[in-house]
Amino acid sequence: MTVTYQFPENFWWGSAASATQTEGSNNGVKGKDIWDQWFATEPNRFFEGVGPGVTSDFYNRYKEDIKNMKEIGHNTFRMSISWARLIPGGRGDVNQEAVTFYNQVIDELLANDIEPFVNLFHFDMPFELQELGGWENREVINDYVNYARTAFDLFGDRIKTWFTFNEPIVPVEGGYLYDFHYPNIVDAKRAIQVAYHTMIAHAKAVEAYHKDYNGKIGIVLNLTPSYPRSQNPADLKASHICDLFFNRSFLDPAVKGEYPEDLIKLLEEHGHLPVTEPGDQHLLKANTVDLLGVNYYQPRRVKAKDSLPNPYSPFMPDWFFDNYEMPGRKMNPYRGWEIYEKGIYDIMMNLKQSYGNIESFISENGMGVQNEERFLNNGRIEDDYRIDFIKEHLKWLHKAIEEGCNVKGYHLWTFMDNWSWMNAYKNRYGFFSVDLKTQTRTAKKSASWFAEVSQQNGFND
Ligand code: BG6
Repeated sequence: MTVTYQFPENFWWGSAASATQTEGSNNGVKGKDIWDQWFATEPNRFFEGVGPGVTSDFYNRYKEDIKNMKEIGHNTFRMSISWARLIPGGRGDVNQEAVTFYNQVIDELLANDIEPFVNLFHFDMPFELQELGGWENREVINDYVNYARTAFDLFGDRIKTWFTFNEPIVPVEGGYLYDFHYPNIVDAKRAIQVAYHTMIAHAKAVEAYHKDYNGKIGIVLNLTPSYPRSQNPADLKASHICDLFFNRSFLDPAVKGEYPEDLIKLLEEHGHLPVTEPGDQHLLKANTVDLLGVNYYQPRRVKAKDSLPNPYSPFMPDWFFDNYEMPGRKMNPYRGWEIYEKGIYDIMMNLKQSYGNIESFISENGMGVQNEERFLNNGRIEDDYRIDFIKEHLKWLHKAIEEGCNVKGYHLWTFMDNWSWMNAYKNRYGFFSVDLKTQTRTAKKSASWFAEVSQQNGFND
């Protein structure tokens, strides 16, 4: 039986990308960010030794890319501004060449009827500010707010949808807990301070935006439902703590303007509360988001710990739970991530039930595949697995909408294959493949499929 999945009028069909992953840091005038620095000192940490210098050369090829977006029916596209490009060094003078570049990209998108959504920070701290302590240093918050204000003033006449941060928990995990981002520190106390200051920077940017502009501003969070192994109270407790650390540490202050009581209690018990200032609580409460971007790739499954943590090992969120491999789980074998399409529905229902049904959209969802050339046929990659992946997620999203969730769109990660931090070009995610030698873009099968979905505002299956 064929079922029709029709989406609400004006649904946002598009994709997301970030500055560091696409522009090419060797292109144009640009200050150094932590990725340039880390690659210069430890190139071996990056897959096949590939760094951020060239990436997809979007800096020079944005016109062709935007034309391709238009062709596959994008009505929206999320990009990010590189702070180190707009303001080299992170504070001080604005780089006029960067202003011209971002103006051209924005104008080109608008001329093609694609609404640009702009994100201000996607893992890319200017190196000089990192040297001052990055998000550990409260002064850096002021630099960020100045940068945000500069961006609003330069582009706010045309940009009506802004995001302060993409996945702010990732630099915390990568840079301060699990050693996959610069500055490669392993220290939960410092991680928690970084997370807290990021949230204060976020709230101050929201405040600055609302003061002078009347578009929407939000945050993009990677929400990862924490499914317990069982209903055993020990497993439930493990999943509750996991949810506090990895979802609610940003979701609650962003949407409700306050941290969960249980999280505060737990950090207090372990002597890990961050340093705060008077006025912070009010700031958070008064500056909640207008819109939430939800990145969803995989669920998290957890169970109670099998053994007590080593008391000599550093304090970690993982002191409170073990990861759980559910027998029979469906996997993306290439990326090593579980595929659980219903997760997208569970997230949306949770936002409806516990977060005032805040306006949201899927800001990233996607499937990374290694060695995609295997699937080449007559010059194009036949990525039926990606089509299925998107379709199955869209079905659950559709159900959430039918049940009243306030979700406005779906963006794939990502438009074209791009450079992905330590993984560089290992996993390919795009609608378009990119030949790294020639920079030729070629539409994959999923691109044509998505063009039809966008045109029909839905699909039959
Ligand atoms: C998302 C990030 O979490 O995952 C992107 O926002 C990133 O920046 C994407 O590229 C895919 O990551 P990976 O490690 O599979 O290449």
